[in-house]
Amino acid sequence: MQSLLNKKIVLGISGGIAAYKSAELARLLIQEGASVQVVMTEAAQQFVTPVTMQALSGNPVFTSQWDSSVANNMAHIELSRSADAILIAPASADLMAKLSLGLADDLLTTLCLARDCSLLLAPAMNKQMWEHAATHRSVARLTQDSVALLGPASGAQACGEVGMGRMLEPAEITEQLIAFFQKKPLAGKKVLITAGPTFEAIDPVRGITNRSSGKMGFAIARAAVEAGAQVHLVAGPCDLETPLEATGKISRTNVISAKEMHAATMNSIDCDVFFAVAAVADWGIAKPSKEKIKRQGKQSPNLEFIANPDILLDMAKIVRTKAGKPHPYCVGFAAESTDLANHANEKRKRKGIPMVVGNIGPDTFGSDLNQLLIIDESGSKKMAKAEKLQLARQLIQLVAKKI
Ligand code: CTP
Repeated sequence: MQSLLNKKIVLGISGGIAAYKSAELARLLIQEGASVQVVMTEAAQQFVTPVTMQALSGNPVFTSQWDSSVANNMAHIELSRSADAILIAPASADLMAKLSLGLADDLLTTLCLARDCSLLLAPAMNKQMWEHAATHRSVARLTQDSVALLGPASGAQACGEVGMGRMLEPAEITEQLIAFFQKKPLAGKKVLITAGPTFEAIDPVRGITNRSSGKMGFAIARAAVEAGAQVHLVAGPCDLETPLEATGKISRTNVISAKEMHAATMNSIDCDVFFAVAAVADWGIAKPSKEKIKRQGKQSPNLEFIANPDILLDMAKIVRTKAGKPHPYCVGFAAESTDLANHANEKRKRKGIPMVVGNIGPDTFGSDLNQLLIIDESGSKKMAKAEKLQLARQLIQLVAKKI
């Protein structure tokens, strides 16, 4: 799936060592389907050459406002007229100061001032420059002017120091640009999601778990952030990275057992939508051994099970009506081996929730593809097989309409 298909992006590069990452960024944007037009400042060309950027973007690179090859000799107007967004990465402290004051003394700054599209900046600078009061003033003015800032991040810097000011990685910038273009029906809403498997300890080294990869829950988390929500993700043991972490719009609690997942979820009940995507173990071990259970000849251990709390059911019990609608709006998931529609609808009624999403498959755990069956009070509807992120986006738009 190409999430930037048909998007025209002007990729501005200003002078900073992070400019070497812009080559990778251009490649990722193109991979997502965008057409990329690169504009470089004079300083940027000290770090990376226009030839490199031309080869990667497949388009001639603009470096001067005095380019006579543009029909009316007004490259700044031409470029901003056709763009969906201008993305500047890296955006140096100097460039941000100029933009915040509306200065336009080269092609890139002139282009920004003459634009009719969104402007996004990925700042990159040494930590003292980022912390300087002058940069704070630039950030405040730019934010006031509706310029979106992607990052910066904290970490090791080219100058040898460690701190705020590092440019986000190209993959993070790409993810945030994709998110920027998504519709925002959940702006101002809080979304809580359980995802992944749980692990029930038998002893310190063994346990019972399941084959849930967490991918669907994490895709829903990403789609919810993209849609403007503040998201809290309660994740069972899985090695997936928190999506869109650099936006500051998502927090995560890692848990192991169903009981821990229950406690973490109940701590975050103040939400507008709850997606119970986790494959929660229905039973835990009554008394897990503190020491590793030793083999005793051919005798197998007698494990006593105890029922785990039903997180979704408990959440549904505290649902209140707000403006005539259930609050939070609870969405359950169901994976069944037979008669999905009936079992899932029965689950919806038993748990007292408005919507259950049935997992049609594919059967391969951890797959990036899925097919879903949406079941609510009005009946059931099959969604076309697609990538989990695409399905998650469709589901988020659907749920947003319900609330
Ligand atoms: N669920 C939950 N807590 C549990 C068990 C399930 O929150 N202890 C949630 C799951 O996250 C999912 C939904 O309930 O959204 C359905 O889970 P499932 O295990 O299929 O349902 P059960 O109620 O356990 O029914 P059964 O296993 O008998 O099909």
